[in-house]
Amino acid sequence: MEKLSIEDMAVFCKRKGFVYPNSEIYGGFSGFWDFGHLGVELKNNIKNEWWNYHVTQREDIVGIDGSIITHPKVWEASGHVANFTDLMLTTKKTKTKIRADQFIEEKLNIAADGLTSEEINKLIKKHKLKHNGEDIEELKDFNLMFETSVGPDKGQTAFLRPETAQLIFTDFRLVVDNARLKLPFGIAQIGKGFRNEISPRDFLFRCREFDMMEIEYFVHPDKDECPLIREVLNYELNFYSAEMQEKGKKPLIMKVKDALRRNMISEWHAYWLAVEQKWFTDLGAKSENFRVRQHLKKEKSHYALDTWDLEYNFPFGWKELEGIANRTDFDLQQHMQASGKDLRIYDEETKDKIIPHVIAEPSLGVERAFLVFMFDAYVYDKKRNNVVLKLNPKLAPVKVAVFPLVSNKPQLTKKAIEVYSNLKKYFNVFYDESGSIGRRYARQDEIGTPLCITIDFDSIKKNDVTIRDRNSTKQIRVKIKDLGHKIWEYMNGVKFEKLGKTILK
Ligand code: GLY
Repeated sequence: MEKLSIEDMAVFCKRKGFVYPNSEIYGGFSGFWDFGHLGVELKNNIKNEWWNYHVTQREDIVGIDGSIITHPKVWEASGHVANFTDLMLTTKKTKTKIRADQFIEEKLNIAADGLTSEEINKLIKKHKLKHNGEDIEELKDFNLMFETSVGPDKGQTAFLRPETAQLIFTDFRLVVDNARLKLPFGIAQIGKGFRNEISPRDFLFRCREFDMMEIEYFVHPDKDECPLIREVLNYELNFYSAEMQEKGKKPLIMKVKDALRRNMISEWHAYWLAVEQKWFTDLGAKSENFRVRQHLKKEKSHYALDTWDLEYNFPFGWKELEGIANRTDFDLQQHMQASGKDLRIYDEETKDKIIPHVIAEPSLGVERAFLVFMFDAYVYDKKRNNVVLKLNPKLAPVKVAVFPLVSNKPQLTKKAIEVYSNLKKYFNVFYDESGSIGRRYARQDEIGTPLCITIDFDSIKKNDVTIRDRNSTKQIRVKIKDLGHKIWEYMNGVKFEKLGKTILK
């Protein structure tokens, strides 16, 4: 099936109550989006699943929740004041601002990430490039951090954080000491990030305000073997190393162990890429839409020794979904120097104080994950003549819909409301008695509700109900008293057919 375009996805999300353009009644505000009654549920479920998989279920990672505005010295020490810039072009007449790399990519069809201002100025001159017929001024750097002021009057200039990661570094010693962490370990965080993007685009893909899910994973500086690598040796990834890109080769699907044998990737990078892709595919994303691409030298961030991106095949091309950078001890060193505080930790083995290295920093935008799950779930079912959103039950905004078979029979509606009220204590359940039963199923299919329960005349006599499965439209009969634990089992991976006796439609 042809992939939905990003514009059509934005229309679908708005029409169904997932995502709205921010302040639309005032004409919208570019780069900002609001999540509707279903979008907020999906977004919360994504964050909860991420936290569960990366923090709750692991012994080696703990979480924090740092503040959005932090001491401005943090951003000087981290290098963001000096380096967190995009190259911005301004047109001569109308002073329109455009991102230089995107402009060059669109005009010349070449990869422009990492080009210097000098190289871009030369290309513009050489190809006599214009924007909408206008000439372009000399190139300027543009810092992506939003400024604000703290305190009365003009106050003190501060920044909205462009990444959550710095809070992990500034709180590092407190977390390590209080949580009694032993290397290797990770510190995770979910929270808002802000970037004053020159040209926000592609719906939720490039926004100015977003939620980030980040981990800083610390190891001993002299120990680069990964004790967890066995867990993923047979996991397959679609590898695209810097060398493959430079030599014009195509990405290659390989087991992690084969990529390691070829020295294509470090153990830690391979481990984290596999763990991250698995998180997506366990929740229903399609593995054929993922690849892992190493950054070319010129693309790397100012703090990174090596970076691999988990990329997704969006309708507008392969794009970064999640960056996984090796940040070494760059950040802890910078903060030690700038604050004068000792952030080293004691190593039991060598009886020495060491500065751990961030061997991997899985960093994922919630909005990008949101798009992935929506694209991979969206199916137009010709037979049903309707969209079926095949979201994993754990992610689905509404878990169960409850319907009386008809709405004008008080004994049916009474029973249905009873079932609904009981289930609502445990799951996000929706009650609907309007329209034909087929129409009610269709409305739930479109928003991804995995199970629909119908109360009919037999339910009154036998205290059982029909449950209908969104994906197959199969139906089973289940006792009302068993509903709670059956739904719980289903949410946790038990197959629909195993929940009860199949009935013929
Ligand atoms: N912390 C990673 C990033 O800002 O992209």
